[in-house]
Amino acid sequence: MAIYINEPSHTFNEYLLIPGYSSSECMPANVSLKTPLVKYKKGEKPAIEMTIPMVSAIMQSVSGEKLAVALAKAGGVSFIYGSQTIEQEAAMVAKVKAYKSGFVPSDSNVSPDMTMADVVALKKKTGHSTVAVTSDGTVNGKLVGIVTSRDYRVSRMDPATPVRDFMTPLEKMIYAKNGVTLGEANDIIWDKKLNALPIVNEDGTLNSFVFRKDYADHKENPGELLDEKKRYIVGAGINTRDYAERVPALLAAGADALCIDSSEGFSEWQKLTLQWIRQHYGDSVKVGAGNVVDRDGFNFLAECGADFIKVGIGGGSICITRETKGIGRGQATALIEVCKARDEYFEKTGVYIPVCSDGGIVYDHHITLALAMGADFVMLGRYFARFDESPTEKVMIGGTYVKEYWGEGSNRARNWQRYDLGGDKKLSFEEGVDSYVPYAGPLKENVEKTTSKIKSTMCNCGALTIPELQQKAKITLVSATSIVEGGAHDVIRKEKNTTDK
Ligand code: IMP
Repeated sequence: MAIYINEPSHTFNEYLLIPGYSSSECMPANVSLKTPLVKYKKGEKPAIEMTIPMVSAIMQSVSGEKLAVALAKAGGVSFIYGSQTIEQEAAMVAKVKAYKSGFVPSDSNVSPDMTMADVVALKKKTGHSTVAVTSDGTVNGKLVGIVTSRDYRVSRMDPATPVRDFMTPLEKMIYAKNGVTLGEANDIIWDKKLNALPIVNEDGTLNSFVFRKDYADHKENPGELLDEKKRYIVGAGINTRDYAERVPALLAAGADALCIDSSEGFSEWQKLTLQWIRQHYGDSVKVGAGNVVDRDGFNFLAECGADFIKVGIGGGSICITRETKGIGRGQATALIEVCKARDEYFEKTGVYIPVCSDGGIVYDHHITLALAMGADFVMLGRYFARFDESPTEKVMIGGTYVKEYWGEGSNRARNWQRYDLGGDKKLSFEEGVDSYVPYAGPLKENVEKTTSKIKSTMCNCGALTIPELQQKAKITLVSATSIVEGGAHDVIRKEKNTTDK
């Protein structure tokens, strides 16, 4: 006979946190959001720790290289999407690893034969006043000079004046050879009172610029996640089909962590994938698995050797799995049960396996609730899709800016590997939709706002760390009427900020 669970399963929206005693120490500035990404033994340190409890969803419309760099700067980890060829995915990972914080490829370049009018037009287009003069006018050409706004006067000079006549030539410029560290480059900038320092390759071609303003940027990201070689940390999605080829390519490209991307993870396919990785790499490769929604699923993946386990089926904003297949579970209920299983597993084995709550985060406070319920971090798709750095188009619809966001199970993404159960290698029916989300600006600004809300609520609960929140949190179910009471009500709102969620 089938097993019946007669209690309804609940979503985050049906819960609230009850404030606890907060001492005068409970100030947002004292709160740490540090959290493990991968499993560790009692008393040891996890191999990868994040400074914010947020990772980006393994999706075409979310996790490209730009978002990965921005999120690593903020202290979280992106998982580059796997629904592309192995070569394309590895190239994206390699780009993130090659991104040298502070070393920026030049986007404003002219040749010595071009004119002041060209320089003015370029400045208008890019908004940048430092222009590299290269032999052929391209970013890869030999550096022959530099033009800044101090070198020309639009009102006094003929627009047809050739660049060679007013540029600062290479022999009079200050530049550095490729290989210089960011610290050394910044010292030169400060000593010589420069705004920009060109970096030149061994053969004289332009490599990049270090800008004075980026030094400040570096200082503004104290939580950034770097590996031992000072490269940004990045994750990558894999599937249960082509792992024998994909995993080595992603590792060669420098991926720090992998994650099996599947709509349902309580399967022999995941076991085989994890087994293969352990056989070939032992514990040195970090790999998450999922998704599951109950204790059995958690225990299965824990035994299979997963480094973290993702929870969530059917709660994603673009997800129609529950409608099409009738499987899933309210995200909060699923998370609470899995976290309990994780704690019991830790008690029994001394191994702590981080739990990731994946999908269904609508408001920022849902993240705090997920953490309070036991999640170590959350995976977000819709949230990150709204930002400048996500790989999709920003378009104007009905007078407001929106960004495109589509599910991996939609016809647009056609990620059959995520949904395939050993069948005919195609997406037989859709489990996701194609949509728009309100455009919300740069990642950094938004993540700072979100994390400051989380920290503030943690203070209300008397917690200065995530483990403390998990220990101390008092969580209550709320009635449907009380949810209505939770928003502004019985007033006529003058304006509503639509980008806030
Ligand atoms: P969101 O943060 O609520 O937008 O949910 C993102 C999560 O939805 C992802 O991390 C995936 O677990 C899941 N997901 C992505 N694409 C699809 C889909 O097409 N159908 C169902 N779930 C999806």
